[in-house]
Amino acid sequence: MQDVFSGIVDLDRSSPVSLYSQLYGQLREAILSARLPADTRVPSSRVMAGQLGVARNTVLAAVEQLAAEGYLEAKQGSGTVVSAQISAGLTKAARKRASGKRPDYTLSAAGERLAGISRTSAGGETPKPFLPGIPDIGAFPTAIWARLLRRETQRLQPKALAYGWTAGHPRLREVLCAHLREMRGIQAEPEQIIITSSAQAALDLLARALVGPGDSVWLEEPGYLGARAAFSGTGAQLVPVPVDEQGLIPYGKRANPRAIYVTPSHQYPTGRLMPLARRLELLDAADRFGAYVVEDDYDSEFQFQGRPVAALQGLDPEGRVLYVGTFSKILQPGLRVGYAVVPSALKEPITRIQRNTGHLVSVAIQLALASFIEEGHLRAHVRNVCALYEERQSVLSEGLSAHFGNLIRVERPAGGMQLIARLPDDMDDAALVRTLCESGVQTRALSSFYLGKAKNQGLLLGFAGYAPEAIEAGLDLMKGVLHT
Ligand SMILES: Cc1ncc(COP(=O)(O)O)c(C=O)c1O
Repeated sequence: MQDVFSGIVDLDRSSPVSLYSQLYGQLREAILSARLPADTRVPSSRVMAGQLGVARNTVLAAVEQLAAEGYLEAKQGSGTVVSAQISAGLTKAARKRASGKRPDYTLSAAGERLAGISRTSAGGETPKPFLPGIPDIGAFPTAIWARLLRRETQRLQPKALAYGWTAGHPRLREVLCAHLREMRGIQAEPEQIIITSSAQAALDLLARALVGPGDSVWLEEPGYLGARAAFSGTGAQLVPVPVDEQGLIPYGKRANPRAIYVTPSHQYPTGRLMPLARRLELLDAADRFGAYVVEDDYDSEFQFQGRPVAALQGLDPEGRVLYVGTFSKILQPGLRVGYAVVPSALKEPITRIQRNTGHLVSVAIQLALASFIEEGHLRAHVRNVCALYEERQSVLSEGLSAHFGNLIRVERPAGGMQLIARLPDDMDDAALVRTLCESGVQTRALSSFYLGKAKNQGLLLGFAGYAPEAIEAGLDLMKGVLHT
């Protein structure tokens, strides 16, 4: 019997893997590789246990599991043997593998389009100045959040843990609706709110629901790559529409849009505010084309002077504006909560699409967030970080002007989390971003936000997530690269 196992079973008693798992795994491996061929007789559990020096129950459990999975079978007169059927099947599979007919690991056309857009992220590392889009994670009131999350988790009703409430827990939708009405001038009922795992998930949901191959979608140029990704996944034709001082220019000769994507509160990446007159022109244009407007209101709460301008959605009694928001900026990206506000006529079908695509959020997180807003913590947090961000914007923009003023022109938006440093048009911003990165400074090239040929060169620099000292240190590193 010893022969059956020599070179096949080799148990390591110092391993954290249990003897059962080792024995099961090694026998399975030996059968799959045909080192234990069909009809090989398996010794009795008593004999095997003795030879291997393990408990009989360990052997019995491994043999029973292999038999249950079909690797071993009982054969009249021979006891337990390696299944002939499995062996034959394996040989066939091995032959097939030798023929080289493997999946070619290529992507579908939609997969190619989606994977073709690569967006930098900190990838599990602490973001470095001046990676844009990062809020001050340290300012997040973790103790309050932990208390609320614990409380809400303890209170969860069984029905809250089953399937249901696809579009979001009613309490969060109600609280968020009241918050959006007051803070953003949104005109909607709680049933029109759809809770998702991010603004990106909401954009993907709306793009899938409303746009198909061949449809035209107008995108701001320069604009947000996440929107480009969401709409390009549908096979739509992406139409870059220039942005001026007032945001997207909603006229000019171009393909009639099915949807128009805009960031009117802080145009991304230029940070510009779309004034009322331009908003009305945009709605008129959308009306003429019968188009939807997708309003991405990702960081409008960060307004340093006065109150933020109300959202476009509130100007739209016709219900053509689909509003997208997120807690990634106002709280933190790791929370994974965003939302859409959709016209009543679309809430049912979009909720069904949401269920079928799985853009859902943990109920405990939703309820903790509802309490966080209801108890005033969100407002307090926004007040707190707005003051921090305003100071950081000053430190960065003044530092940039002081050190590199003869080379770059800083555009200082009225709020937000990042600013643009314009470069001379003959400079290659992408090359500069690469060099800065080698020196430990993370920025984004303005040209990377253009779908067509870039009209301007510049750097997008985030300030919100970095303390003044870190900003100063980043500026010092930049001095080593940008000799002016
Ligand atoms: C314009 C814009 N929309 C949406 C988002 C992201 O939101 P989320 O993290 O919820 O997908 C960002 C983040 O950088 C953004 O810049």
